[in-house]
Amino acid sequence: MKNIKTIGVLTSGGDAPGMNAVVRSVVRTAHSNGLKVKGILKGYAGLLSKNAIDMDLASVSGTLQRGGTILGSARSKEFNTPEGVEKGKQSLIEMGIDGLVVCGGDGSFRGALDLSAIGIPCVGIPCTIDHNIGCTDYTIGFDTAVNTVVEIVDKLRDTSQSHNRCSIVEVMGHNCGAIALHAGICCGAEAVIIPEVRNDLERDVLNQMREALNQGKTHFIIIVAEGVTGERAKQRSMDTQQLATFIEDRVGVETRATIIGHVQRGGKPTARDRRIASMMGNYAVNILKKGAHNRVVAMKRNTVVDYDIKEALEISKTINFEELRTFNEIR
Ligand code: F6P
Repeated sequence: MKNIKTIGVLTSGGDAPGMNAVVRSVVRTAHSNGLKVKGILKGYAGLLSKNAIDMDLASVSGTLQRGGTILGSARSKEFNTPEGVEKGKQSLIEMGIDGLVVCGGDGSFRGALDLSAIGIPCVGIPCTIDHNIGCTDYTIGFDTAVNTVVEIVDKLRDTSQSHNRCSIVEVMGHNCGAIALHAGICCGAEAVIIPEVRNDLERDVLNQMREALNQGKTHFIIIVAEGVTGERAKQRSMDTQQLATFIEDRVGVETRATIIGHVQRGGKPTARDRRIASMMGNYAVNILKKGAHNRVVAMKRNTVVDYDIKEALEISKTINFEELRTFNEIR
C-alpha cells in the first residue's frame, strides 16, 4: 500500500455547481489528517502540463458558496491516449503527488481508471448536472441545475399564460432525462419528453393538449431533454424549434421555443449540493489515506459509499420510473 502524503485534486469535464465545495472539503480534510494538497488547474490538460498550485486552508476560504470551479476545467484529447495517460503518471510523480481525487462525470472517471491501472491511486467524485452516473443516487450539481430550470420555467409560465401560448423548453442532461423530469414535476409541466422513453408525440403530447384545450386550458409548458431534440441527441428527428413549429401547426396554439443552455451549469450551489459535496470530498480523502486505489464515491440511500471504478462505469443509469409515473398522474 502506497503511503499517501500529498493528494492531487482536479475538476474535469463540464463544470457543476458544488465542485468548489468538493475541493474545499478535500483540502480541509487532508489538512486535518496531516496531508498536503496540490490543486491541478484545468483538468487532465493541466495535469499533462504540470499546472498545479499548493492549496492551504486559506486557498479555499470563501469558495463553498461559489459556482463554477476555482481549479478550472477542460477536456484533453492528449490524455485520451495511452501515451497521454503515461505522461499524466509521470507528471504526478514529478509533482510529488501520491494519490488523485478526480471530480467529474463518467468520462473523467475513465481517465482515473487508466491512471489507477498504471499505479496511481485515484478516487472519483460524481460531479455533473446530468445525473447520469449509474452507481450513485445523486450527482453533485444536479439540484442546483434543477432549481435554475424551475426558476426560469416559472417565468416562462407567466408569459405563456398572458399570451395563451405553449412554451417548449429544452433542458440539459446529455443522454439523461432527469433534469427534465424533475423540473417537469416541480413546475407542473403539461408534458416532459425524455430520451429514456419512446415518445409517441401524437398520443402523449398533441392529443393531451387538444383535450386540455377543449376543457378550457389556455397555456402549456412542455419540457424536452436535450437528449431528444438537442444538438448532440443520438436519434433526433426534430430540433427544439422544429418541435415548437410542429406543435403550433398540429394543435393550433401559438408556440415558442426556449433553449436554456449553459446557465444551468452556473450559480451558487444549493444547500443539498454543498452538503453532499462536502461529505463526498471528505470521504474520498479518508479512503485514499486508507489505501483505496481505484474507487468512485457514490451516494446510496443517503449514505456515502464507494465502488470499484470499472464496476461503477458498467452500471447503467435510467430515470426513476416511479417519478415518471407520478408525473403522468398529476400533470
Ligand atoms: O455534462 C454536462 C453538460 O452540460 C451536458 O448537460 C451538456 O450536454 C454538455 O455538458 C455541454 O457541454 P459543453 O460545455 O462542451 O457545451
